[in-house]
Amino acid sequence: MARDLPASIVLASNSAGKLTEVRAILGAIGIEVVPVGQVVSEWSVEETGDTFETNALLKARDLVARVGVPVLADDSGLEVAALGGRPGVRSARYAGAAATDGENVGLLLHEMAAVPEGSRAAAFRCVMALVWPDGGVVTAAGTCPGVISAEPRGAGGFGYDPVFLDPETNQTFAELSAGAKNARSHRRRALDALVAELGGSPASDAGCGRAT
Ligand code: IMP
Repeated sequence: MARDLPASIVLASNSAGKLTEVRAILGAIGIEVVPVGQVVSEWSVEETGDTFETNALLKARDLVARVGVPVLADDSGLEVAALGGRPGVRSARYAGAAATDGENVGLLLHEMAAVPEGSRAAAFRCVMALVWPDGGVVTAAGTCPGVISAEPRGAGGFGYDPVFLDPETNQTFAELSAGAKNARSHRRRALDALVAELGGSPASDAGCGRAT
């Protein structure tokens, strides 16, 4: 069955960083993004899948069954070539089940300490899953290439942003403005693909050099 872009979606995420970014990107094309906390109290799902897609679907399907309106879930993470793709789907829990962003970044830099400049390639990956109450599903993926810096830089963003260098600007995602990160991020690319799959037009980015 052909699907239209919903005018409003609930975001299946407790991450303030993801909410801010998804709101900015979808808000620019007139889609309202409702935080999960506004419709359900204390929502969480165990991410037992071993792919971003499985986990995105797990989260979206769990929440749509509770709220009965279209739900968007984002599962994302960092893959580092020198670490065989780690932390990957375990990015949020890399340094332990309740690890903070700082602890995860600290462990990553420790594991990368002996890896020379030139071998520090990485990619942020994101899968978005949009699920309707009748069970309809659309998924889309986005990837953003980068390099792991020697030390954290910048105060913006969240998660691994302070150590993820954008090769184009040589700034970390935590040093870029929110608009510049949103113009090139894995999340942006996945959302653009999702919107295109549903026949919509992604937002334009006057002046912020959107990556392709
Ligand atoms: P999950 O999608 O909830 O499993 O967790 C995603 C984890 O990947 C976050 O907790 C961050 O550690 C990391 N991550 C995902 N997207 C980003 C991003 O845009 N910047 C920095 N870290 C990210």
